[in-house]
Amino acid sequence: MSIPSIATVVGSGIMGPGIAAVLARAGASVRVYDISTEALERAAAGLNLANTVLDQLGSDSVEGGSVEFLSDLGAALADSQFIVEAVPEKLELKKRVLAEIEATVAPTAIIATNTSGIPITTMAEGMLEPGRFIGMHWSNPPHLIPMIEVIKGEQTRDEIQDELVAIVYAFGYEAVIERETPGFVENRILYAIMRECLALVDEGIVTQEALDVCVKWGIGYKLSVVGPMRLLDMAGLDTYENVSGYLNSELDNSQSTSELISRLTAEGRLGMKSGGGLFEYGEGEVAAKRAAIVQGLVAARKALSSVESV
Ligand SMILES: NC(=O)c1ccc[n+]([C@@H]2O[C@H](COP(=O)([O-])OP(=O)(O)OC[C@H]3O[C@@H](n4cnc5c(N)ncnc54)[C@H](O)[C@@H]3O)[C@@H](O)[C@H]2O)c1
Repeated sequence: MSIPSIATVVGSGIMGPGIAAVLARAGASVRVYDISTEALERAAAGLNLANTVLDQLGSDSVEGGSVEFLSDLGAALADSQFIVEAVPEKLELKKRVLAEIEATVAPTAIIATNTSGIPITTMAEGMLEPGRFIGMHWSNPPHLIPMIEVIKGEQTRDEIQDELVAIVYAFGYEAVIERETPGFVENRILYAIMRECLALVDEGIVTQEALDVCVKWGIGYKLSVVGPMRLLDMAGLDTYENVSGYLNSELDNSQSTSELISRLTAEGRLGMKSGGGLFEYGEGEVAAKRAAIVQGLVAARKALSSVESV
């Protein structure tokens, strides 16, 4: 299978609409299902936004693709060959939803989950046919980050992984195949970075504004062109050995969540979604920041697509 002719996205919150946009622009007839009618209404607006951004990016749109929003799971799954589960990150809920999906779809359909890190093998417990179940971890925003982690569970069949990788490449993304590990690869790395950042701010070594400048230019800019493994070669392995010899033991290795984050969360300061978190947002500022982030991602992706991959 390359692009499935009929695909279903189950759960249309933050991730669902962008996933639907990518699949539809590659030519699939996509059905988006959610238990909440309000979520489906928001998803329609989210889809328009994703398509506007993809148009700005100059991304292709194959004839024949479409997106339908449905509140009937049976209709959403009828004849579907490829299902992406994107309901909230709660194991019991996901297991229930997977059982509903399995009860309806054809035995040949691939069932993928966008879980951020629940082990695929754990999610597959109780499935009738875990061999066709696989992790497909999109990065947010899914219509802009052209990389997907592909994670087999213990029982996932090899050919399902092959088919999913072919689908990912067919819609123009990179597939990263990995073995199952808690958090998967992307989040393990991101959370290691976040833990050190929060520790440096907590200890008063650097302000959060200065830290963001340091990471964006000193690390992010460089890593968007050369990955960390190649960067090691570029820096010199002997240099890394010398520095890590005295530095690794100094790095934060706390097992618990940063106190700063726990305090703000307890106060209801959840970030942009509540109008304030680590930073304050005045009237209209959240929308402006979100728009600036999307514009930055579009500009960076355009620029990066014109350079040779190293
Ligand atoms: N948000 C991110 O940055 C991000 C990134 C990568 C992966 N993920 C993963 O993707 C999945 C979805 O995340 P999200 O951020 O889009 O969540 P979300 O909470 O924004 O959306 C989930 C949607 O699922 C719907 N839903 C709940 N129960 C349902 C059911 N029984 N059947 C159908 N729909 C149901 C909800 O109404 C909601 O619209 C999670 O597993 C999450 O960990 C999220």
